[in-house]
Amino acid sequence: MCHRIKLIKGDITKVSTEVIVNAANTSLIGTSGVASDIHKAGGIVIDQQCMDIRRRLGGCKTGEIVVTDAGNLDARYVIHTVGPVWKGGEKKEAELLYSCYINSLREAVRLECKKIAFPNISTGIYRYPKKEAAMIALKAVEEFLSENSTIEEVLFVAYDEENYEIYEELLK
Ligand code: APR
Repeated sequence: MCHRIKLIKGDITKVSTEVIVNAANTSLIGTSGVASDIHKAGGIVIDQQCMDIRRRLGGCKTGEIVVTDAGNLDARYVIHTVGPVWKGGEKKEAELLYSCYINSLREAVRLECKKIAFPNISTGIYRYPKKEAAMIALKAVEEFLSENSTIEEVLFVAYDEENYEIYEELLK
């Protein structure tokens, strides 16, 4: 397993990194789950910039990303990505989830950041099966890191015990 990939159990708003990835929705309004925690901890600047992006671009599409400052979080940027809602697996969910990770990593490089932290995108309210989601996340990150040497740390932040155990097993 790549030494640049790390795993912790906890709250992503408490980590120190350069990019915090948010599991957002297409309207970029963070009212529940990890998005709500990120908006609350980051403060008004994140809400305002998300509103501005919504006005200019209409929001964010599934699998894609938008960027804001990180406000009060211990990071430089928040990359908001919209994971797919699980609909049984025939609606390009795997492809879209893979895109969330790859597009976030590409953007982190573009922003000249070396450290990035991911929550377990889509595995909460969007009901993506956790093991399948973890396998896609790791595949995307490993493939990306194998071709990129500027990213020094990819931190997976598992909030719930089940996700933590799945990642721990897969990272062995
Ligand atoms: N830090 C890290 N992970 C967290 C936190 C936190 N503070 N809070 C929740 N999580 C974890 C959940 O345990 C879950 O595994 O984040 C994962 C994703 O859960 P959701 O936040 O429900 O995100 P998702 O399934 O992608 O659904 C997106 O939920 O957050 C809202 O606005 C968002 O409507 C969108 C939807």
